[in-house]
Amino acid sequence: MRLSRYFLPVLKENPAEAQILSHRYMLRAGMIKQESAGIYAWLPLGYKVLSRLEKIVHEEQQRAGHIPLLMPTLQSADLWRESGRYDAYGPEMLRMTDRNKREMLFGPTNEEMITDIFRSYVRSYKDLPLTLYHIQWKFRDEMRPRFGVMRGREFLMKDGYNFDLTREDALHAYNRHMVSYLRTYERMGLTAIPMRADSGPIGGDDTHEFLVLANTGESEVFYDEDVTRLKLGERAINYDNREEVAAICQEFTTPYARTDETHDAALFDAIPEGRRKVGRGIEVGQIFYFGTKYSEPMGATVQNAEGKQVPVEMGSHGIGVSRLIGALIEANHDDKGIIWPEGVTPFHVGIVNLKQGDAEADAACEALHDSFVALGLDPLYDDRDERAGGKFATMDLIGLPWRITVGPRGLKNGVVELTSRRTGVSEELPPEEAIARIAAIYANI
Ligand SMILES: Nc1ncnc2c1ncn2[C@@H]1O[C@H](COP(=O)(O)OP(=O)(O)OP(=O)(O)O)[C@@H](O)[C@H]1O
Ligand SMILES: [Mg+2]
Repeated sequence: MRLSRYFLPVLKENPAEAQILSHRYMLRAGMIKQESAGIYAWLPLGYKVLSRLEKIVHEEQQRAGHIPLLMPTLQSADLWRESGRYDAYGPEMLRMTDRNKREMLFGPTNEEMITDIFRSYVRSYKDLPLTLYHIQWKFRDEMRPRFGVMRGREFLMKDGYNFDLTREDALHAYNRHMVSYLRTYERMGLTAIPMRADSGPIGGDDTHEFLVLANTGESEVFYDEDVTRLKLGERAINYDNREEVAAICQEFTTPYARTDETHDAALFDAIPEGRRKVGRGIEVGQIFYFGTKYSEPMGATVQNAEGKQVPVEMGSHGIGVSRLIGALIEANHDDKGIIWPEGVTPFHVGIVNLKQGDAEADAACEALHDSFVALGLDPLYDDRDERAGGKFATMDLIGLPWRITVGPRGLKNGVVELTSRRTGVSEELPPEEAIARIAAIYANI
């Protein structure tokens, strides 16, 4: 992409309405535009990051054996009356009436709809286990939408639902989700800690929230510092192996880590003092096991091996895809702007031409741009006729992890400059070597 042809409405001034840094940077970097309270248009740069996150979520869910589908945003009120939640949900639910006076709602979550889909088709235990998920817009009429996409009213969520014959099978699905979520966040360059949580309006017995540590987070968290050092890394995971998956969950949930809702002072005080941490966190996901809470009232049953009809065992599992962008920025920035982890960056590399219009510099930049495209990478070439300082400020603000700076002086010596956004360290090297370096960095991402 050439910046002169892109749509990147960068703001020079700090928007007054943004209270936290991630919101400020998203507005300034031209990623989002507020349309109403808690409702945002995703401008090209923001949409690009959102799409990268969606792709990672899809890949990790499908790796775990979960199947994508797409349910509508609008749902019928009658479905929610069957579970009893239509009245219970309260003013957070956006309700509407169509021209035939049918009561509809904008879905805040999809337990009822997926249960209805399931009961319409599945009759036998032989069709289990089954986990279906989608990535779809949700609406919750939050009392206090704030912090930009972090607490929006319309927001993008991955929500998945498992259907199993027995409680043991459903708990395996729960564990599978925990591990696939850990992998998902790790690929995004985030540390998200599973913490035992309260179940709230979804209901159920077993539930964990995933929290990214950040001092702007809305939840108070208490944890053993050891938990922050756990990594899945490159280990191969067989999601069908119950013991293996359960052991990973055990590993990640053994060190103490809880939100204020479930905090237990006695357990916490037993941790050696140096490792005892109190901080704040952003909830970027939650998993629930709730058994037959929906299948029973909604009549989602299957025939078991003995020929008996039994309600199916279920759970639901959500990732806050749009909120994750706020969390990523809270965890990766400096005073000049965003610093994207390589796994989620909107463009892989920025190219800055120090002397636009200089035949040699222009040609070198074009060649770099085209080489990256040929390698399947996504470069952003700042080809605007602007002074170098302005170009650097834009690159720093939008946070591309790598920048190549090209100028007539360097080219005379056969070199360009490669700069890491995170460390600020620059290195001069021939253009081919810069290309090879970038290609190697992204080869395993
Ligand atoms: N208003 C919102 N804006 C953006 N993301 C949200 C919002 N509400 C929930 N999410 C995301 O969707 C995920 C799954 O939804 P869930 O039903 O667990 O939300 P929740 O527990 O009600 O969230 P919260 O406690 O933050 O209101 C959450 O972990 C969060 O990351
Ligand atoms: Mg939650």
